[in-house]
Amino acid sequence: ADEPLVLGIETSCDETGVGIVRGHTLLADAVASSVDEHARFGGVVPEVASRAHLEAMVPTIRRALKEAGVAASDLDGIAVTAGPGLAGALLVGVAAAKAYAYALGKPLYGVNHLASHICVDQLEHGALPEPTMALLVSGGHSSLLLAPDITSDVRPLGSTIDDAAGEAFDKVARVLGLGFPGGPAIDRHAREGDPDAIRFPRGLTGPRDAAYDFSFSGLKTAVARWIEARRRDGQDVPVADVAASFQEAVADVLTRKAVRACKDNGVDHLMIGGGVAANTRLRALAEERCTAAGIRLRVPRPKLCTDNGAMVAALGAEMVARNRPASTLDLPADSSLPV
Ligand code: KG4
Ligand code: ZN
Repeated sequence: ADEPLVLGIETSCDETGVGIVRGHTLLADAVASSVDEHARFGGVVPEVASRAHLEAMVPTIRRALKEAGVAASDLDGIAVTAGPGLAGALLVGVAAAKAYAYALGKPLYGVNHLASHICVDQLEHGALPEPTMALLVSGGHSSLLLAPDITSDVRPLGSTIDDAAGEAFDKVARVLGLGFPGGPAIDRHAREGDPDAIRFPRGLTGPRDAAYDFSFSGLKTAVARWIEARRRDGQDVPVADVAASFQEAVADVLTRKAVRACKDNGVDHLMIGGGVAANTRLRALAEERCTAAGIRLRVPRPKLCTDNGAMVAALGAEMVARNRPASTLDLPADSSLPV
């Protein structure tokens, strides 16, 4: 196999991820998460994340190499998330990648976190068609991206003007007392609820609204107000119905706009990535609407949707395969790196 063997390091948020791929083949996906340490704060605490990355970095790299059964000396490159993300957290991964690249004499590839969330699907469904249409929904981002070239040209068509989709899940979960991170908990409760029980607002879906932008802050507020009103009246809050109805509103807006972006741009497939892509209802509704529109849906398995090192390795391997220039050892960690 002369496909590139690449190790990828991801530390943009609270997961220390190290993945190893050969071309489109996943060899290792080691993740150490500090999510439990953040849970009592109800959100990711940057300093806590940085320290956790520092402690987990070397053991996670060793674990990935062992899992893949490859020697570090056989690698064709080391890829790392250069941004966007938490500055201090990114720095840990970038510093580690530079140290390994320098010590092993391997090329270093700084990659964009959002582009790697898209590229990871190559490990699941093979080569991505170009241009690629992607809906990226995580705790930090909600964007529609059109990528004529995943290694060098990823264009934002629209994004959230306030909260990210995952952030909305986390905030609504907090109001419902479901803990952090909220997405998986809402997903679970929603299974027992009625998605049509409460009609929550669909932000930015009016005829004069930006076609590809999102807004979830009004929805979050509407849910909070609805719950407050129930409590004020001394009534129980039907957690499952609220979760299902909120989740329905998010899935409805996301899939409606994504399908429209595909149609408007003549793209016949849609990739969905980021932590929220794990959502059961989002997946089902996307499948339904894409099928109706003749669009092929590509969603990686949940473990590849949330932050991980394999996605970084996947994009790094694509860069090696396409002879893209390597980064220099002064590669900066850029917390607001644009796509
Ligand atoms: O991509 P990710 O792991 O990290 C970044 O934010 O970059 O995404 C984490 C987000 C969290 O907000 C979490 O609540 C959400 O993804 N999430 C979900 C589900 N699983 C994770 N949201 C809805 N449904 C899920 N099943
Ligand atoms: Zn992410």
